[in-house]
Parts: sequence; structure tokens; C-alpha cells
Amino acid sequence: VRISVFCGVSLDGYLAREDHALDFLDPFHEDHGYVDFMRTIDCLVIGRLTYDVVCGFGEWPYPGKRVVVLTHRELAPRRGEEAHAGPLAPLAARLANEGVQRVYLDGGIAIQQGLDEDLVDDMTISTVPVAIGRGRRLFPGGAAKTQAWKLEARRDYPSGIAQSVYVRPTR
Ligand SMILES: NC(=O)c1ccc[n+]([C@@H]2O[C@H](COP(=O)([O-])OP(=O)(O)OC[C@H]3O[C@@H](n4cnc5c(N)ncnc54)[C@H](OP(=O)(O)O)[C@@H]3O)[C@@H](O)[C@H]2O)c1
Repeated sequence: VRISVFCGVSLDGYLAREDHALDFLDPFHEDHGYVDFMRTIDCLVIGRLTYDVVCGFGEWPYPGKRVVVLTHRELAPRRGEEAHAGPLAPLAARLANEGVQRVYLDGGIAIQQGLDEDLVDDMTISTVPVAIGRGRRLFPGGAAKTQAWKLEARRDYPSGIAQSVYVRPTR
């Protein structure tokens, strides 16, 4: 199964403010490929904190997609969400067995775990030209070894988004 990251990040590397506010991304809500990316995704694997945030949105952002929530805590699924705890490799193997082609891995801690397990195939990172000083990091840390990525594409958007697409070189 292919595992992909697609996220918006502040200039200083944050996915959200500490209180989970995403206000700094608001001025940059032009289409930067998210809709096309979502069309290629058949399953999301998201951290519990990201899940709790999106559950607070007016509208469920993943209609028609399979969603797996990484959590140690009880989940009260309203749209068939599944829970998973522990290493991501067995989950990835199970999803592949069940016919999933491409997974969207989201949430800073969740992404870090995918990187630590060397499971992430590509990352599309859209940087907005705002530094927020503190918050919830895209890469909260912990990778045990250096990983080399290949820069596959760079796109600049009128609002100031600088998007980089990185892929893992063939293993
Ligand atoms: N700007 C963007 O594009 C973007 C993208 C994604 C997220 N965000 C924002 O970033 C924030 C969330 O990111 P985050 O890094 O704070 O957290 P996160 O990765 O969404 O969630 C982390 C939590 O998920 C659970 N978890 C993760 N891996 C697990 C595993 N393998 N097994 C069991 N449980 C696991 C743990 O919670 P428990 O142990 O408590 O269950 C952990 O504390 C939110 O504010 C969200 O809105 C922004």
C-alpha cells in the first residue's frame, strides 16, 4: 500500500497552534491540489488529535472514505471509523490485504510514526509564509536515522503557498 502525507505547515514547521487553531492557514485557502489528491486516496489513517479536531468541523471532511483513527482511547464511531493502536506496519499490511491502494496519513505524531517505521512513500508539504512561534509540529521528533528524500515537484501559488512534493527513492 502506498502511504502519503499531504499537509499545510507554517514557515516554522507547525501544523496547528497549541490549542489546535488553524487560523494562520485561513488566508491561504486556494486550491493547491487537495481535491485531486483526495480523489487518489481510498483510506485515511489519522491521529486521535486530528480526528477530534475534524469531528468539530461543521461537515465530515472524508465522505465516502475509509477512516482509521490511531488511538489508545475509546472511540465512538459515527461514520464507520475504525480504531488502531500500536505500530503502523501491521495496519498497513492489513489495509493492503483488504485492497486499499493509497493511504492518507495525517497528524503530526501519526506522520512521525510512519517516518520512524519507514512506511511513508511520499509527502506533499505546502508551506505558508507565516511563522506562528509555537504549536503542534509537523515533525515532532524521534526519527532514529537520516532519511534521504527526492524532491519530485515544486509549485508556487499566488497566495504565497510554496508546495514541495517529496518521494522516497526506490528501496
Ligand atoms: N495543517 C495541516 O495540514 C494539519 C494536518 C493534520 C493535522 N493538523 C492539526 O494538527 C493537530 C494534531 O496533530 P498532533 O501531532 O498533535 O496529533 P495527531 O498525530 O493527530 O494525534 C496524536 C494522538 O494520536 C494517538 N496515536 C498516534 N499514534 C498512535 C498509535 N500508533 N497507536 C495508538 N494511538 C496513537 C495518540 O492519542 P491517544 O493515545 O490519546 O489515543 C496521540 O497522542 C490538530 O490540531 C490538527 O488539526 C493540521
